[in-house]
Amino acid sequence: MSKPLPLEKILFSQGFGTRRYCSDLVLADLVMVNGALAEDPDERIATEGLVLNVEGKDWEFHEKAYLAFNKPPNYECSHKTTHHPSIYSLLPKPFVERGLQCVGRLDFDTTGLILMSDDGQFIHKMTTPKKNIGKVYEITTPEPITQKQIDHLLRGVVLDDDPKPCFATACHQLSDNTLAMTIVEGRYHQVKRMMAAVGNHVAQLHRTEIGQYVMPADLAEGEWRWLYQDDLKQLSQSVEHYHAKT
Ligand code: URA
Repeated sequence: MSKPLPLEKILFSQGFGTRRYCSDLVLADLVMVNGALAEDPDERIATEGLVLNVEGKDWEFHEKAYLAFNKPPNYECSHKTTHHPSIYSLLPKPFVERGLQCVGRLDFDTTGLILMSDDGQFIHKMTTPKKNIGKVYEITTPEPITQKQIDHLLRGVVLDDDPKPCFATACHQLSDNTLAMTIVEGRYHQVKRMMAAVGNHVAQLHRTEIGQYVMPADLAEGEWRWLYQDDLKQLSQSVEHYHAKT
């Protein structure tokens, strides 16, 4: 059981603004705690299972934020974007305020699963090259995918910026023009460059899995969802699983 905390401190920790602003939210009757109107910003509240409502919107308390997000096309994965809007514009503002970051990026035209967190250790664990875990991409190509190309991807291809080959750890052909490919590294435009290196081309790219975490079927494009203990356990098992195999 964690120690009860003052309400304004809780609101601040969740990204609702400065402590002064959070205190004012309470005094303006804009905050509910587990369904009851809050009156005192300094009241100590237990955080376990806490559900706030701030300015009419429900908000689960999470000490650290871990999310799965289904990225739509034509959004960039950075805060300061160049040509397209930022994926952060699709998330509630408190997430940005509390420093949420992507766990690895997808290209602006790639869609699918992205993990996000404000826990630096988690981001490091999931992205450091030493602990790289499998990521599954569904690739759609304009030209039919041949067995020869698949064999080449599995054997490894040399990309122009590194003599060390990179390879697919698994390939499953889904149709003539679609392939589910697993890679464990995260080099720049890696999938697109691998497909070009074997003489094909990526027309569409969609990420479906990270480690043992599969994108939920009901998570629509542009939507996000909290990751809970079971999901996080699955993800940390992915890291352990990868270590066991290397
Ligand atoms: N590989 C790519 O080429 N692009 C992505 O967005 C992700 C992996």
